[in-house]
Amino acid sequence: MRKFAIGNWKMNGNIASLKMLGEVQAAQALSGVSVVICPPYPLLHAATLASNGSGVEIGAQSCHHLANGAHTGDVSSDLLADVGARYVIIGHSERRADHHESNSAVCAQFQSAKTAGLTPILCIGETQAERAAGRTIEVISSQLKASLPPQAQAFILAYEPIWAIGTGLIPSLDEIAQVHAFLAHQLAEICGSDSKISVLYGGSVKASNAAQIFALPHVDGALVGGASLAAKDFCPIVTALGHVQ
Ligand code: 13P
Repeated sequence: MRKFAIGNWKMNGNIASLKMLGEVQAAQALSGVSVVICPPYPLLHAATLASNGSGVEIGAQSCHHLANGAHTGDVSSDLLADVGARYVIIGHSERRADHHESNSAVCAQFQSAKTAGLTPILCIGETQAERAAGRTIEVISSQLKASLPPQAQAFILAYEPIWAIGTGLIPSLDEIAQVHAFLAHQLAEICGSDSKISVLYGGSVKASNAAQIFALPHVDGALVGGASLAAKDFCPIVTALGHVQ
């Protein structure tokens, strides 16, 4: 399975932050893994120019489901592709919460991303209360099924427990392994056993815990928030992923 270290800058960073791409490119070249950086919209074009010709690719953090039109403040997948983005995160829990994005809205975004030639990075994950109630598998399973259009192929899935995002808390290694084994099985059922969908873990991934997480079966990399903002934090995560056999 293809290994990905993906940085989600969220609403952080500025033009000066793009300088870190040089160090990330060097770490990517040594590691051989796939690296994607997802900065805020206004930085996308500069980021694609800065990463052009390197092994680091650029993604966006959301997209509108329509190709154009009167939708003030929104950005289409076509425009993301036009400025050189190759990936787009969809269904992040912060978008689901802040912008009330439903599974069906996420599904429509997935389709627009594919039509524009982008690779969707679909996020799913349970709340703390859902985990405490023993409903993790049920919740992520229904999110996955309802967010994917029929015949979905060639996307990335990110399992991000909502309570682990930005908190420093992570599930136990056994818990992560259990969810990823379930997702690998479910993806084989939905998309076919030869579909080769990479499944990433996200939520408080740091240089200090990355190697242990990456060593788990069915974990094909990480979607990283806070620790993707500085090269000194993100490059060791890229390197750790490169060490996984
Ligand atoms: P943190 O790595 O800051 O916990 O964020 C995870 C995340 O939400 C990535 O999309």
